[in-house]
Amino acid sequence: MGELDVIGIGNLNYDIIMLVERFPEFHEKIQAKDAFFGLGGAAANTISWLAHMGLRTGFLGAVGEDEIGEAHIAYFKKIGVDTGGIKVVGTHSGMALVMIKGDDKRIVKFSGANALKEPDFGYLEKAGHIHLSSNPPDILEAVINFAHKKGIMVSLDIGEAELPGRIEDKIDYLLMNEDEYRRKFGDLDLNATAARNLIVTLNGGGALVRDENGESFEIRGLSAEVVDSTGAGDAFDAGLIYGIIRGWNLRDASKLGMLLAYLTVQKVGARSAIIPLEEIKRKARELGLSLPF
Ligand SMILES: Nc1ncnc2c1ncn2[C@@H]1O[C@H](COP(=O)(O)OP(=O)(O)O)[C@@H](O)[C@H]1O
Ligand SMILES: [Mg+2]
Repeated sequence: MGELDVIGIGNLNYDIIMLVERFPEFHEKIQAKDAFFGLGGAAANTISWLAHMGLRTGFLGAVGEDEIGEAHIAYFKKIGVDTGGIKVVGTHSGMALVMIKGDDKRIVKFSGANALKEPDFGYLEKAGHIHLSSNPPDILEAVINFAHKKGIMVSLDIGEAELPGRIEDKIDYLLMNEDEYRRKFGDLDLNATAARNLIVTLNGGGALVRDENGESFEIRGLSAEVVDSTGAGDAFDAGLIYGIIRGWNLRDASKLGMLLAYLTVQKVGARSAIIPLEEIKRKARELGLSLPF
């Protein structure tokens, strides 16, 4: 086993989030109801949860030589994420501008430094599990082939990125939300992908799961009033990965994912809901979820 339980690969962003009553029209300025800013990036959010849950974590990505880059590295160091895989490059750090109106959100992204991330196989070799969010197809392909060859577990939350068909069967856990899945495969046929295990998260909470034996089941039960869904998918991923690494079955791992997503949609900001493992256990008990912690 590697010296790190999980390495995340993805963008390191700075999110500015505005809660609005409606979206602005052409050449119009509107007032936000509330606002929030903070560190983001999907895989980075997932890794932040996992570090709080006591796993040995690391990250591979790129930031600019600016305050945002410094903030990412300082935050990761503070929570115990190994930053040896983060490159500092001579351009602006990535940013995302988010407008939220109820359960609708509009996002503008700037990749910046993120476009310069490169797979560092010497670093990735330290991992027992690699988690990828939306990444360019060449990175996905190179990393997934590498992990497969080395026997490193791979989870991929593809988001809106292109899913390279050639490596689909080497993905141990493919995570998508139901809209992404429908857009990519037409409907919710869970056998449309060759990924070994498939987890499709559902809009109101919960997930559809198809395991490597072709068995399908649904995880439901926790549905909250959405305040801001930013980072909820990333939180789901963290719960799932935690369970997998601890050797839980896919049903229990998915239930923990559902719980962390449920907690995240109730707070503004991708990382605002993050709590340590002891508190997660307490929440699970309160909500009547029995999990093999
Ligand atoms: N009302 C809700 N209550 C609890 N969980 C929810 C609710 N709505 C969505 N979720 C969960 O939040 C997550 C949202 O993930 P996703 O749709 O991938 O969004 P994003 O990638 O933008 O964070 C999913 O796990 C989903 O099941
Ligand atoms: Mg998602």
